[in-house]
Amino acid sequence: MKILRTKQAARDWARAGRQQGKSLGLVPTMGVLHAGHMQLVAAAAACDRVVVSLFVNPMQFGQASDLAAYPRDEARDFDLLRAAGVDAVFAPDISEIYHAETQTTVLTEQLDTVLMGALRKGHFRGVCTVITKLFNILQPDSAVFGEKDYQQLLVIRTMVRDLDMPVDIIGVPTVRESDGLAMSSRNLRLNAADRAAAPVLSAALDYGQTRVADGITAAALEAEVADFITREPTAMLETVDVRDAETLAEVDGLIMVPVVILLAARFGEVLLIDQRVAVPAPVLEGVK
Ligand code: PAF
Repeated sequence: MKILRTKQAARDWARAGRQQGKSLGLVPTMGVLHAGHMQLVAAAAACDRVVVSLFVNPMQFGQASDLAAYPRDEARDFDLLRAAGVDAVFAPDISEIYHAETQTTVLTEQLDTVLMGALRKGHFRGVCTVITKLFNILQPDSAVFGEKDYQQLLVIRTMVRDLDMPVDIIGVPTVRESDGLAMSSRNLRLNAADRAAAPVLSAALDYGQTRVADGITAAALEAEVADFITREPTAMLETVDVRDAETLAEVDGLIMVPVVILLAARFGEVLLIDQRVAVPAPVLEGVK
């Protein structure tokens, strides 16, 4: 497995493969890999070669303390990727990616104003900018992202559409622990009590899904799911949002279209998110 530390080395490596007619799949990550990431790597393996980027992107962190607290374990990540047969890892320093006088950023304007975009100002600008840079440096044929970060995936698909980026975006369903907790590098920072409480998020999504199938308004669903989570005293609920699954627009009245239920809650210092698309019975019946 090739370890690429500079933009130039990454460009040269990617170009050499292209010249041999080999397709390239990119898995962008911030490291501390878990089984969820390895599913992304498996999906990227549909291409002839796979490159994984490991880069904790400062531009997408609001607070310096969040960035400093982000876990890192490069040696372990390299071992996992080597064992998975990945062809190359791109693991640059911050100064390699961001020029000290960077002026240009990328923003999906509308999607940046809703939900996580409104909550974490500048977050999606950071994500779009770093993904654009990775696409420009490596020029992959496809790039793979987890559906767990639902809004992020929608933001990236929108950016690629709007800017005519020649990259196929592949979404991979959330990988869960046996108790339902969505896998995330953040789970490592949970203490024992918070770890035991955190599966309340996936249980709330299960509950929400059955309520959508029964027939419910978006407002009532948000209230019921919030109530479900706050019955767990350890969970500090930040948001429950029920939105149109395709546009993230608000849904008025009885839910008649597929919706995404998006959750964010703090367990101690750790912010966890989860999501599920729920389909109302009339839509399901329509496809029978
Ligand atoms: O989802 C992540 O890990 C990050 O937001 C990403 C896509 C690697 C961009 O830094």
